[in-house]
Amino acid sequence: MKKALRFTGLGLLLGLGAVQFVSTPRNTGPTEGPASLVAREKVPGDVKAILQRACYDCHSANTKYPWYAAVQPVAWWMNQHVMDGKAELNFSDFARYDTKRTVRKLQAAADEVRDRKMPLKSYLLVHDEAKLTDADAARLAKWAEDLADDIESR
Ligand code: HEC
Repeated sequence: MKKALRFTGLGLLLGLGAVQFVSTPRNTGPTEGPASLVAREKVPGDVKAILQRACYDCHSANTKYPWYAAVQPVAWWMNQHVMDGKAELNFSDFARYDTKRTVRKLQAAADEVRDRKMPLKSYLLVHDEAKLTDADAARLAKWAEDLADDIESR
């Protein structure tokens, strides 16, 4: 029995070792390039700061990776979040959205933040800097809603 356990342990270790050679693509493009939200719209400094610290890791072309992001299967798991997040909403690509999508995404951002669904809870466990106070959440939500109204009325 002990021997079997030892073999299982060894197997797991070898598996974890082997999986380190699987490379995962990294999200390292320009965050606020010509196609970004901030290039297209006037974004007040305090709102921009909130987006940068709480949203960009998953909703922009650039993720700031912690050291453990180099360890598999963490890298793979993290990449899934970034890919899913970016597919839903990419602030670095925002200027390419048509009016309807832009308005919808801004309204969705307001809702998600107000309901405290974003940033993701699992992310907040290891990212203190991304935590939003009630005031931060209210500020971001109000700004997103106002901008959506403004864009809709243009
Ligand atoms: C750890 C990664 C992560 C962070 C940080 C994060 N998100 Fe997300 N976000 C996701 C993922 C993954 C999805 C898609 C799946 C889901 O809805 O859970 C998503 C979905 C969304 C959607 C849904 C889009 C739609 O059309 O319904 C909005 C809006 C959104 N996020 C806004 C934000 C905002 C605003 C912030 C910052 C305050 C933020 N997110 C921070 C990962 C993240």
